[in-house]
Amino acid sequence: MNGTAPRKKIRLGVLASGGGSNLQSIIDACNAGSLDAEIALVLSNNPEAGALARARDNAIPLECIDHRDFAQRSDFDRAVVDCLEDRGVELVVLAGFMRLISGAFLEKFPHRIMNIHPALLPAFPGLHVQRKALESGARFSGCTVHFVDEGMDTGPIIIQAVVPVLEQDTEDTLSARILEQEHRIYPRAIQLFAEGRIKVDGRRVQIEPPLPPCCGSLSNPVLG
Ligand code: GAR
Repeated sequence: MNGTAPRKKIRLGVLASGGGSNLQSIIDACNAGSLDAEIALVLSNNPEAGALARARDNAIPLECIDHRDFAQRSDFDRAVVDCLEDRGVELVVLAGFMRLISGAFLEKFPHRIMNIHPALLPAFPGLHVQRKALESGARFSGCTVHFVDEGMDTGPIIIQAVVPVLEQDTEDTLSARILEQEHRIYPRAIQLFAEGRIKVDGRRVQIEPPLPPCCGSLSNPVLG
């Protein structure tokens, strides 16, 4: 016993529709002790989601609520909110969750729903954004962690990382380079929340004390 009280862990509800590599980065950060969080629930709308297998492999409580079983989006959202509340979730983490979040859901978790998006918002919201970045001729893209609001990828931005778009990039190679940065910044954004360092002021997010210059923003700037 060294007399140090264990740090309080924030209870996360991770919502994922796909493979769950971002979920894995959060699990790894919790296990490594760099994230003061406990995953109280992994929930998917997709019975085939790899994220559910990752939850099972890590003995994390999991739930599958198939959106196709609900006639109305509001009914699906209510079922999801009930599950999150039953598990005492304090922060909802969207990790490749491919459903829009309704107003009623948002009201239950004000500024307590985060999303990760594989582009530098506000550029390229929506789907197929790596392809759009390539087609646009952008020299840089990246990823964004933001709070969710009623719009599509429009909520207050918490943290971003930049990656270069290379001449020979395909959608797959650019996606992989962006994903690597997603795995770095998402656990970090959640840790900032767990430490109570995030304040939302209108559209702007303040981090107190501020991150050092470039920390969590430009990860690997390449000029030219
Ligand atoms: C990630 O690239 C994430 O940013 C993206 O889906 C992928 C999920 O990968 N999310 C969105 O596009 C949300 N609009 P993962 O299942 O391996 O974490």
